[in-house]
Amino acid sequence: MSTNDDTDAETEAQPAHEEDRLQATRRNAAKFFAALGGAAAVGTFAVSGLYGLEDSALSGGPDYSYKTLYTQGTRVVDGEGNPVAVDALSEGSGESMTVFPEKEGGGALQVPMATTLLVRFSQDAYEEPTMLEGTAEGYAAYSATCTHAGCTVSSRTGPNDQNFLCPCHQSVFNPLQGAKVVGGPAPRPLPQLPVGVTEDGDQLIIATGPFEAPIGVE
Ligand code: FES
Repeated sequence: MSTNDDTDAETEAQPAHEEDRLQATRRNAAKFFAALGGAAAVGTFAVSGLYGLEDSALSGGPDYSYKTLYTQGTRVVDGEGNPVAVDALSEGSGESMTVFPEKEGGGALQVPMATTLLVRFSQDAYEEPTMLEGTAEGYAAYSATCTHAGCTVSSRTGPNDQNFLCPCHQSVFNPLQGAKVVGGPAPRPLPQLPVGVTEDGDQLIIATGPFEAPIGVE
């Protein structure tokens, strides 16, 4: 697991997390405008606005925001910073992997609240309250930060290991139903991150907007 230690001489005056956040936001904006310029670059995403760029990330606020970790066009990357292609997981398998938003210049933005669970079932397996327009090619993504006390949701449980399990107090979330709580003390679902697949040859997984709700403990 890499760390955010790539600040350069120009950015030494800023805290590392602040620079990473601004880099992520700048990159997200660049990706979004590139997607606009590339016309049909994105399969399932409807351009409805430039989410997130009006909030604290650009106005110099001190913290990351669930609205700015990912915006439209942010590439999803693995822990090594590699973009995730559509064939990374087998369709219908229910397999999952931990991913992050890509930073400007490449690399994974590995801050705890950015940790994201990417899962792939059959596209027709999802039910409401899943944000169905935020699924693509069988992929769905959710925050990995538990809404009970903020632990990282890192295990699977249930029939065919369908559900996500938080190891701290055994909250269970159903990813086929919007990661709603089906066991344990968590008070609300894991927020969903809407994703799409680029239509270029690489067919990469990207965010099509920000997380739908605040991350972790409200
Ligand atoms: S922090 Fe996840 S169940 Fe308590």
